[in-house]
Amino acid sequence: MGNFKSLKKTSAGMEITAANASAQVSVYASNIIRIRISNKTFDRDFSYAVIKNPDKVNFTVTEDKEKITLQTDSLILTIGKNPVRFNFSDKKNNILNEDDTGFGTSWIGTEMTTYKKLQEGERFIGLGEKTGNLDRRGSAYVNWNNDYFGYPANADPLYQTIPFYVGIHHNLVYGIFLDNTYKSTFAFGASNNRFATFSVDDGEMNYYFIGGANIPSLIQSYTSLTGRIEMPPMWSLGYQQCRWSYYPDKEVLNLARTFREKNIPADVIYLDVHYMDAYKVFTFHPERFPNPKQTIDELKKMGFHLVVIVDPGIKVEKGYTAYEEGVKNNYFVKYPDNTLYTGEVWPGWCHFPDFTNSKTRLWWGQNFKGYVDAGVEGFWNDMNEPASWGNKTPDLIEFEFDGSKSTHKRVHNIYGMQMSRSTFEGTTKLMSGKRPFILTRAGYAGIQRYSAVWTGDNVATDEHMLAGVRLVNSMGISGVPFIGVDVGGFVGDASADLYARWMTIGTFTPFFRQHSMYGTRDKEPWSFGEEVEISMRNSIGLRYKLLPYIYSAFYEASQTGIPVSRSAAIYYPHDPKIYSNDYQHQYFFGPSLLVAPISSTQKFGKVYLPQGTWYRLDTDEKIEGGKEVIVEAPMDRLPVFAKGGSVITMQSQVQYSLQKNTDTLHVHVYNGDKGSVYVYYEDDGETYNFKTGEFLKMTFTFDPLARQLNVSREGKWKSKFNYLNIVYHGFADISQAKANDKGIAFNKKNGLQSVVVNNESGIKISW
Ligand code: GLC
Repeated sequence: MGNFKSLKKTSAGMEITAANASAQVSVYASNIIRIRISNKTFDRDFSYAVIKNPDKVNFTVTEDKEKITLQTDSLILTIGKNPVRFNFSDKKNNILNEDDTGFGTSWIGTEMTTYKKLQEGERFIGLGEKTGNLDRRGSAYVNWNNDYFGYPANADPLYQTIPFYVGIHHNLVYGIFLDNTYKSTFAFGASNNRFATFSVDDGEMNYYFIGGANIPSLIQSYTSLTGRIEMPPMWSLGYQQCRWSYYPDKEVLNLARTFREKNIPADVIYLDVHYMDAYKVFTFHPERFPNPKQTIDELKKMGFHLVVIVDPGIKVEKGYTAYEEGVKNNYFVKYPDNTLYTGEVWPGWCHFPDFTNSKTRLWWGQNFKGYVDAGVEGFWNDMNEPASWGNKTPDLIEFEFDGSKSTHKRVHNIYGMQMSRSTFEGTTKLMSGKRPFILTRAGYAGIQRYSAVWTGDNVATDEHMLAGVRLVNSMGISGVPFIGVDVGGFVGDASADLYARWMTIGTFTPFFRQHSMYGTRDKEPWSFGEEVEISMRNSIGLRYKLLPYIYSAFYEASQTGIPVSRSAAIYYPHDPKIYSNDYQHQYFFGPSLLVAPISSTQKFGKVYLPQGTWYRLDTDEKIEGGKEVIVEAPMDRLPVFAKGGSVITMQSQVQYSLQKNTDTLHVHVYNGDKGSVYVYYEDDGETYNFKTGEFLKMTFTFDPLARQLNVSREGKWKSKFNYLNIVYHGFADISQAKANDKGIAFNKKNGLQSVVVNNESGIKISW
């Protein structure tokens, strides 16, 4: 932007006119300021990502010869006048982020770039589904959702566009969210030592600056803009078995039976493209699945849920209902000369629904009736970048863009998100009060409101396994908590060691699904011999024991946006060790478990434990932190550590998530210097009745020094657990315990000390 011309104050902020462009500044919250810049007339103000309106907050605007200052309770925005530059500080005047004085925001043709000065030692994390290091300094990334079969572990771009990142320097943090769906580019001091930039190919510069004391609060603010996950069905947090493709029906039933016979817990089986009749969505293959309802009923009896794949391409075929309806009602995307766009995917030549048209979205959603009537409860949205053979959807095709007709250039990056939205909204209506499970490959900022995400067609290598951990953690920083990878690798054949190690990491991944490509070797938990089978039974079993903890972590995500897999950088952003090659994969799974992924070729691993006391989850070994340690990492046991001072809820092992449990919730308390407040959440796990109070929130206030655990509760739901079994870790020689000041029986078994109390209102336990 050039030199300042005029200022107009508005109710949410101000408008500034400069020599060659104008800017709108709006205060969304005292720590969120939106900057919109254009060198044309401003477009209609419309976003698929942002669902928040500006809050009514106090701010002041003052002006002198050189600058304009906007001040809220937590941020100071100083706008230099000649030329116009935007600089953000916290209320103590610490510089958080400033425009490069030379360039600020400038243009090359329609391409518009904001140049931000690199601060000394500045690091960058987030930006969604991006490969590379945890710290993105020195790297550049493009956002253009990309169907990338068998992508290299350092590939870019992949399938998702989440233009939100966090900057870290001088013990300060801030976030920037760029909301523009055209192709965009981020460069964090890549090929220069002067600036970090974000550019858009076209449209407006439109970014939200977020201030905050720590990274969790930035994520909370970012998700106040773009929304949070709804509670998923409990079954979708269990283990999910997929391959391209299980068919016919007998094979699917046989697979389900084998899980039960072998006592390997699982909740979900997937049908990939072969279940359809000639790959036509909304159909079942007449010979392979002649009676889907009956098959699904059988699966349900065994406690399994079925997920089917749906692709956006609708086969061009006379007499095929979806095709006929789409053509007749103008639901498909067209060229500017009003002819239908045709691209080739699995079914052959296809038309593509315009998911940016509300009528198309509604129609798409209604098409799931056949699936829902048959008992399908999960819907896997694939190929929605959109993908087609040739991987180059013509830029000129036109979309409704909900009222601002636009070309593919503007729509490409939100196509997958709007497909997922249509699927989510349609199936939610059809499922009579039950929660659907939606999975998608492509997405844009805000996708977490509609769907879980997986990271597409990865490869069965150690490098991919670890890259996948970074992708999952980065998506978490970027507001997407329900995220996972094709465990075991989609392309190629994993060795037994790689498969087993990857499955142990899958146990600690929010979305836990094994998937593999057509033609690859068998990858069921029993396909690698007896030793691996036993270890899979244990590690998948551990996932099921942890479900009460995992479900509560999803609840936290639904309330605050804080992800389930949390890069250690979220809690220790200023500790340089966290970013080192050795430790950048480490993450917290939920609030209290530190996971240290280790490649399958290593049987020992180096782990960095931050300050505090830690307990190895599988052995209960106590380790003092603040140092690097070498730990054992046999094939079936990933190094995972419980944080001293924390509370972790577990249940006895079940074969599927909603199977009747023993009636005891195990509450593990770990001794440490500092206590914690832990929220356990429970509801029926499958309906929306929690919205009318049918939930239970138990708040555990744990004070290890005072040797006290207080439990308070909220909500109408009656817990399925009648007893709480409090298990003590790291407390030497307990001799007595009390519940609500009355002495209670105390157990010592296998070296563990515990007490059992009734799970009823207001308990104070001391020992
Ligand atoms: C795509 C998906 C993959 C799926 C395959 C066949 O490659 O990414 O997960 O199995 O298509 O539908």
